[in-house]
Amino acid sequence: MKTHRTPSSPAALALLLLATTLSCGPSVRGAEPARASVDARVEELLGQMTLEEKAGQLNQLSVGSLTGPARIVTNGEELVRGGRVGSLFNAVTARETNDYQKMAIDGSRLHVPILFGLDVIHGFRTVFPIPLGLSASWDPDLVERTARWAAIEASSQGIRWTFSPMVDIARDPRWGRIAEGAGEDPYLGAAFARAYVRGYQGARLDDPSSIIACAKHYVGYGAAEGGRDYNTTEISERTLRGVYLPPFHAAVDAGAGTLMSAFNSLDGVPSSANAFTLTQVLKHEWGFRGFVVSDWTSIREIMLHGIANDEATAARKSFLAGVDMDMQSNLYLPFLPDLVRSGLVPMDRLDDAVRRVLRLKVSLGLFERPYVEVPADSNPADLPESRALALRAAEESFVLLENRRVGRAPLLPLSPARGLKLALIGPMADGAEDMLGSWSGQGESRDVVTLRRALAERAKHDGMRLSFARGTDVSGHSSVGFAEAVEAARGAEVVVLALGESGKSSGEASSRSRLDLPGNQQELLEAVTGTGKPVVLVVFSGRPLALPWASEHVPAILMAWFPGLQAGPALVETLFGDSDPSGRLTVSVPRSVGQVPIYYNSLNTGRPRIDPIGLGSTKADPYYVTGYLDETSTPLYPFGHGLSYTAFSYSPVHVSTAEISAASLNAGKDSLTVSAEIRNTGTREGTETAQLYVRIRGTSVARPVKELKGFQRVRLAPGDSRRVEFKLGRDELSFWNINMEDAVEAGSLYVWVAPDCEQGQPAKVEIVQ
Ligand code: NOJ
Repeated sequence: MKTHRTPSSPAALALLLLATTLSCGPSVRGAEPARASVDARVEELLGQMTLEEKAGQLNQLSVGSLTGPARIVTNGEELVRGGRVGSLFNAVTARETNDYQKMAIDGSRLHVPILFGLDVIHGFRTVFPIPLGLSASWDPDLVERTARWAAIEASSQGIRWTFSPMVDIARDPRWGRIAEGAGEDPYLGAAFARAYVRGYQGARLDDPSSIIACAKHYVGYGAAEGGRDYNTTEISERTLRGVYLPPFHAAVDAGAGTLMSAFNSLDGVPSSANAFTLTQVLKHEWGFRGFVVSDWTSIREIMLHGIANDEATAARKSFLAGVDMDMQSNLYLPFLPDLVRSGLVPMDRLDDAVRRVLRLKVSLGLFERPYVEVPADSNPADLPESRALALRAAEESFVLLENRRVGRAPLLPLSPARGLKLALIGPMADGAEDMLGSWSGQGESRDVVTLRRALAERAKHDGMRLSFARGTDVSGHSSVGFAEAVEAARGAEVVVLALGESGKSSGEASSRSRLDLPGNQQELLEAVTGTGKPVVLVVFSGRPLALPWASEHVPAILMAWFPGLQAGPALVETLFGDSDPSGRLTVSVPRSVGQVPIYYNSLNTGRPRIDPIGLGSTKADPYYVTGYLDETSTPLYPFGHGLSYTAFSYSPVHVSTAEISAASLNAGKDSLTVSAEIRNTGTREGTETAQLYVRIRGTSVARPVKELKGFQRVRLAPGDSRRVEFKLGRDELSFWNINMEDAVEAGSLYVWVAPDCEQGQPAKVEIVQ
C-alpha cells in the first residue's frame, strides 16, 4: 500500500499545524494545480469510462455511523470494488479510509480514488464553539484559523472534504440549525463564508492538509416556515438574491469546491431539483466549476415533495436541474445509465457532472496520494496549540448582554479576592457533553474542561471558597434540588448561574416552538435571584433565547453559546476579567416567540412606530402603527449588541463627499470613504467592533432600514483612540432593483458607524445620476 507520510508524533504534528496555519494564504482562487494538466488528466479518464463507471463517480454512500435516516445499501463494499462509488462519508479514521481506498484502487478497473467526506463543522477532534458562537467573534481571521486546524486534523485521517460551512441566513431562532450558521446578516455571512473556505481549502488544494469546503444548504433552507426544520420556504427572487444567495456567492468566489443542495422547497420547487438556482444562477451566472452534492436522500425526497412519481423521474429531475452527486438516495447509480441510453438525459450532462467530480479528485492530489499514514494514537486536542486556539475562539465568542452596577461598580468582572465566597449553580455548570454542541464531530466529552472544573481550579489557586449545587436538570421538572441551590446562593457573596439548553437541542431536526429555558430552569433562576445575592447568569444555547425576566432582574448576563473544549477556562478568564468579552450578536434576540421572525435589516412599513432616520407616524397617530398590542416590536437585544468591561465613544461619522454619482459607482470608478474615531473612555483595555450600516431612500424598490456594510475590530488601551475607515463602492451599494438588475441607484444614502444596529447618528450623502 502506498502511503503518504504525515508526522505522527504530537510535536511534529504541532509544528505542521503551526507552519500550515501561518502559511495559510489569503485566497484560494486559482488554487487548483495547473488547470490544463488537470483537465487533460480528467479527459483521459473520462474517455475510458463506461456509463456505469461514470454514474459510480456520482454516487455517494455513508459508512460508519449514520447522520440521517437509515437507508442502508447492503453491498457497499462490492460497489466500491466495482468502481461504482465516487465518494464515501462518515468513515472517520485513517484505518477505515485507507481500507476503503484500497478496495477502490486495487479492486476497480480504472483505480479512481474515493473522496472521503465528513461533517467537520466546528472542529474535528478539537472542538471549537458552535458556528453561531464563532460568528459572534466578528473575527473572520479567527474562524479561518479554526477551519484550518480542523482541516489539518481531519485530513490526517484521510478526510479531504467537509460538509461545511453552513452559510444559510437564519432569521428564526426556532429553527435548530441557526446554531450552525453565522446568523441573520448576508454581509457578515459572506465574510465568514470566505473565511471558512480559505481555512479548509488552504492555499493549495493539493496540499495534503487541505480539505474541500461545501457551502450548504443551497438554498433558502434557513427560511423554513414556522422554524420547522426541512419545511417549505417562500422567498421572492429579490430577497433570494439580496439576502440568501450572497454568502453562497462569496463561498464560490473564494473557490469553494462544492455546494450541497438543500431539503426545502423554494417557491414550490424542491431545492434539490431547482434548475434556476443550481444551473442558471450557480453554474451559469457565477461560473461555478465545482460540483453539487445533494443533501442526504434529498433526491429521493422530491417524490415526497410531489414532483416525481417514481425513482427514475426523481433521478432525472435532480440531475438535469444540476445536482451532480447523489448522497444516499441510491438513485443515480441504478438509473442514470439507462436514462442516458434512452436519451432522457444527455451524455453531455453526465460528462459534465463526472468532470466536476474528477477535477476535484485530481486537484486534491488523490491520485498521487490516495492513502494516509495512520497517525500515532495521540490526541490532537491535547496539543497546547489546539488548546490555545480553542480557548481563544471560546473567549471571542462570548457576548456580554448585561452588566449592571451592584453597589458602585458593574458586577463583572469579578475580583478574585482571597476568601471570596462563590456559588456555582445550575445544570450546565458541569455539562461536558453539552459544551460540544451539535455536530461536534470526533470531539469527546472527556476532552472538555467544564466551568465547574475550571472554576474549582481557579478558586483553589486564588484561595476563594466555592460551593456547587446543580439545582435541577436541563429539562427537569423536579424542584428537589432548589433548596440546596438557594442555600448555596445564600452562603455566597456572588452566584454564577449556568443555565441553558442541552447541547443537542439545536442542530438538525431540533427546532423548538418556545424560546425559553427548558424544564424548570426559569423557576430555579427566580428562586436563586430571589435570595438577593448578585447573580451572573451564563446562558448556554445554540440559538438566542427570549429571557425578558432575566434581562430585567439579573445584573449580569453572559451569552456563552456552546463554547467547545475550553468552555471552562475561557469562561473563568472572562468572569475574572483576564479576558474582555468582545463578542457581538449576529442574531437579534427576541423578547418572545411571537416576535419571530425578527431581524434588524427589515423593510420599513408605511406606518412605522420609529424610524432610524427620524421618519415615523407615532406623533401623528400612535394607534395606526405597525406592531403588537401586547409587546413592543423591538428585540430584547439588537443585532450587533455586546458590552465590554471598558467603554467606547464614537466621534460623528465623516464621509469623504456629500455627493457621488451612481454612474461612476456602477462603473467601479468611484467610491466613498466613511470614517469615525473610536475612543476607549474606560479604565481597561478592550476590543470594540465598529459596525458600518447604510440606508438608501428614493430608490426603485424599498431598501432595509439598515444594512451592515463593513465592520472592524479595534483593540484599544484606556484613553487611546483610533480612526476606523470603510470604503463604500459598487459591491456595498448595489442592490437588485425593479428590473432585477444588481446596480447602484441614485438616492439619499445614510451612513452610520456605531456599536450596534440601533445606535449612532447618520451622515448623509446624495447619490446622483
Ligand atoms: C444532513 C444534513 O442536512 C447535512 O447538513 C449534512 O451535511 C448531511 N446530513 C451529511 O451528514
